[in-house]
Amino acid sequence: MPYETIILEREGPVAIITLNRPKALNALNEQVLSELAAAVAELEADRSILAAVITGSGDRAFAAGADIGELSALADVAAATAKAKAGHRVTHAIEHSRIPFIMAINGYALGGGLELAMAGDFRIAASTAKIGQPEVNLGIIAGFGGSQRLPRLVGQGMASYLLLTGESIGADEAKACNLVERVVPPDQLLAEARRLAGVIATKGPLAIAATKRAIHKGLQIDLHSALELEAEEFGKVAVTADAREGTKAFLEKRPPKFSAT
Ligand code: COA
Repeated sequence: MPYETIILEREGPVAIITLNRPKALNALNEQVLSELAAAVAELEADRSILAAVITGSGDRAFAAGADIGELSALADVAAATAKAKAGHRVTHAIEHSRIPFIMAINGYALGGGLELAMAGDFRIAASTAKIGQPEVNLGIIAGFGGSQRLPRLVGQGMASYLLLTGESIGADEAKACNLVERVVPPDQLLAEARRLAGVIATKGPLAIAATKRAIHKGLQIDLHSALELEAEEFGKVAVTADAREGTKAFLEKRPPKFSAT
């Protein structure tokens, strides 16, 4: 389907979604959120897609937050709560997709921008990126998952520092606190994101989807139950045609040909 505020491209098994409101530093307005949700659903249904990258257009921003114009017009508690839930729908869809999403942070990832990035499977950042949760500057709080995913990623102290002061940090500091996994020069960001997505796309798709489920569902429950979950996922994946092919290919010293069965 045609999109106006995002660009969706397919490069073989890899999809690239570009947030495309560069004049507003790719701020996430209602249209971006609903187009993102539609694009994620479209990719989910397209079995030829095995990995995805989300990035921002231009060289200034991944996304500078939820759209502040829209936030300033929120009329009542119900409308404001619905706004947060619209963000949750997109981040939940990304997190629970069978497809790994690599977030390529090409500049500002602030507020809702960082919250979107945190819903991805992992993040790589341009060395020039600026990352933070400045909502308190506006008299509001993080509403697209930031108060919950940030402490899970970086620990309570660092999360509280970012959420309570509204200060931004650079890419190296973000890497030091596990908020991003890789830092690369800006001109190499997309190439590296594509490379990593391409690597994932060579793996067994059922194994990739099961790994995502084990990680994300396991993080919600106690360790004992999470290990049960892992054993169940392992049990199902280890007897698939892909598992037979992957192990056989290793023993025959050839690359595997996975079929997602
Ligand atoms: N929502 C709506 N518009 C936004 C935006 C947002 N979150 N962030 C930036 N923009 C718009 C600006 O209003 C400006 O539009 P204009 O050219 O029509 O005036 C344009 O993007 C460029 O931003 P500008 O502020 O002029 O750039 P800058 O280089 O001076 O500053 C930032 C960059 C990111 C520091 C600054 O834009 C900013 O603080 N943005 C808001 C960040 C934020 O609080 N996010 C959390 C929202 S919950």
